[in-house]
Amino acid sequence: MSRNFFPSATRWSSGSSSCSMSIVVWSVVGCLLMLHLYSLICQSDIQNKEIDTSMSRHPLLLKLEEVEEENIKMPRPRRRSPRAAKRKPRRPTAVIDEFLDESSQIRHIFFPDMKTSIDPTKDAGNDSFFYYPGRIWLDTEGNPIQAHGGGILFDERSRTYYWYGEYKDGPTYHAHRKGAARVDIIGVGCYSSKDLWTWKNEGLVLAAEGKNETHDLHRSNVLERPKVIYNNKTGKYVMWMHIDNVNYTKASVGIAVSDSPTGPFDYLYSQRPHEFDSRDMTIFKDDNGIAYIIYSSVDNSELHIGPLNEEYLNVTRVVTRILVGQHREAPALFKHEGIYYMITSGCTSWAPNKALAHAAKSILGPWETLGNPCIGGNKVVRFTTFFSQSTYVLPFPGLPGFFIFMADRWNPANLRDSRYVWLPLTLGGAADQPLEYTFGFPFWSRVSIYWHKRWRLPDILREKK
Ligand code: DGJ
Repeated sequence: MSRNFFPSATRWSSGSSSCSMSIVVWSVVGCLLMLHLYSLICQSDIQNKEIDTSMSRHPLLLKLEEVEEENIKMPRPRRRSPRAAKRKPRRPTAVIDEFLDESSQIRHIFFPDMKTSIDPTKDAGNDSFFYYPGRIWLDTEGNPIQAHGGGILFDERSRTYYWYGEYKDGPTYHAHRKGAARVDIIGVGCYSSKDLWTWKNEGLVLAAEGKNETHDLHRSNVLERPKVIYNNKTGKYVMWMHIDNVNYTKASVGIAVSDSPTGPFDYLYSQRPHEFDSRDMTIFKDDNGIAYIIYSSVDNSELHIGPLNEEYLNVTRVVTRILVGQHREAPALFKHEGIYYMITSGCTSWAPNKALAHAAKSILGPWETLGNPCIGGNKVVRFTTFFSQSTYVLPFPGLPGFFIFMADRWNPANLRDSRYVWLPLTLGGAADQPLEYTFGFPFWSRVSIYWHKRWRLPDILREKK
């Protein structure tokens, strides 16, 4: 019986296998159709919501989200002798070539001269409080602000903003023929402000070491991207920074501490966090008081993120590798409605490149890449992060979802003359391009940085601060 049964069962099963195959195929097709339909419904829902949200968005945000266009007129090609032209036919120059060319005829567009500087001490009447990305920005003594690769601490106790950054007011040179342009370490500059526009120079809060050549802060080394946070438990201001040697092979972080936001900071030590190489870095203090370090590692091919200890003076054993293989640097992290966001740049030394926004539900990841957050200007402007590189994102108190994006427009020929690009950054609102959805399930708000030739915080926000 079993003999009879078996062959017939086998026959039945071969018929049934093709039958079940087609059931599977049709089920998959059905599922895909359903998914597609659902994603279409979701998309239209999102679009409606976006319209709704943009209509219900704060009018102040809408004003800041009005972008400007840029029309950069390329210079006429310079005259060359017919022989030179024959030897090397000229390829058309691109805007980015002009930006990188110190002798470009349109250099003033990228690096406007002193005549156009922002001088908060002069009463500009109705023109006061405007940020002009790329212009020279003077402190209250009339000197260009020196706080490159910097970040801002809002000190609750004095209700004052402190801007810390690389003080680069020295000559630019190349230590080696192939090495990156550099300025010797001078120290970390600090500026204070109540209105985020008028900045008083508080001096060098951490100074270079002149004599001891083995010291991390010896002027021949590298000190970049200093950031300061306040530790509520210890009552100390803690600074973390990228410490390196002239060849960028030390690849470490340095830690300094002070009782006052205006220093002086005591330099403690440097380390390779989690025993990994670390170059561009930042620190981020979460709402619950836990602070994190984020650094480019494994030769800048990935980022690492991990909590600091309670005193903020060391890392812990916890660390995760994120954006592996994506080669990102210049991280600037911020948080909104429980979601973590980050802006990063590509790795092209001092030359600008395309920014990317990333988001995560948990700070330790996984992180998802959302795309280029830059809006307005023109394609070149957007693809070069407005000719600048991210350094910090400052949450704006009183207007949730509104941030100031801070970036450096590096001038590799004369690093002390690098400029600041501050622009409004908002979360949510209408997207100018489709967001990256996972199977039609939107999760993240759009991160948008809006190009403005000039802009200012709405009066009511400035008064609120
Ligand atoms: C890019 C980094 O973001 C800067 O901080 C600096 O390290 C330069 N590279 C040096 O080339």
